[in-house]
Amino acid sequence: KHELRASAAKLSGVTYEQSLLASTALDPPLLSRIGGPSGFHTLSTLFYNKVFNDTSNPWFLGIFATSTKEEAIDNQYRFLVQTFGGSDLYTAKKGGRYGVRLVGRHANYGIGVRAAERWVELMDCAIEEHAGLSDEEEAKKYLKMYFRYTAFYIVVAKEYMREDQLSGGNQMDSGRVW
Ligand code: HEM
Repeated sequence: KHELRASAAKLSGVTYEQSLLASTALDPPLLSRIGGPSGFHTLSTLFYNKVFNDTSNPWFLGIFATSTKEEAIDNQYRFLVQTFGGSDLYTAKKGGRYGVRLVGRHANYGIGVRAAERWVELMDCAIEEHAGLSDEEEAKKYLKMYFRYTAFYIVVAKEYMREDQLSGGNQMDSGRVW
């Protein structure tokens, strides 16, 4: 687990501790700064509009070929509300999978460094465009660090799962992100 965090930090340039600032260092908390649950819904909508309009990058859009925009927005928004201290919207939809399965849910998409960079780039744009965050420089900085670290954690944990599978070790333990 500590190796994974170190690899994610090295690749992303954001430490595990920095990735936590979005949920620990803001008072009032991010959830209220962004405008409550609907503020995260706006963020996920801005983000996935970019993803599904990203026709100049067919390889990136291809990762989302089996998803609909509406479902993807709904899943991500629920997850973010729950992550940042709101009600358990994600668990209510997906069952007890919160936190244990984020890496596992992404493992079959072949997500590497290039995809993580593109994902983060589009999310950074969505954050910048979010009207509710326009005067929230600190919140924006922390939120970007959270996403960047998590995106690269997803990449390295996937590699780790593969090595584990080859050597027959404990696979599922690496599925925990939070
Ligand atoms: C789902 C791609 C990073 C949170 C998905 C899906 C794809 C995807 C294709 C399926 C869409 C759906 O039907 O919901 C990627 C790529 C990433 C990335 C290429 C680049 C590293 C992240 C990050 C987070 C995240 C950083 C959170 C901080 C989620 C959530 C779901 C999801 C919550 C829904 C999971 C579920 O269905 O239970 N992602 N993702 N993803 N992603 Fe990502």
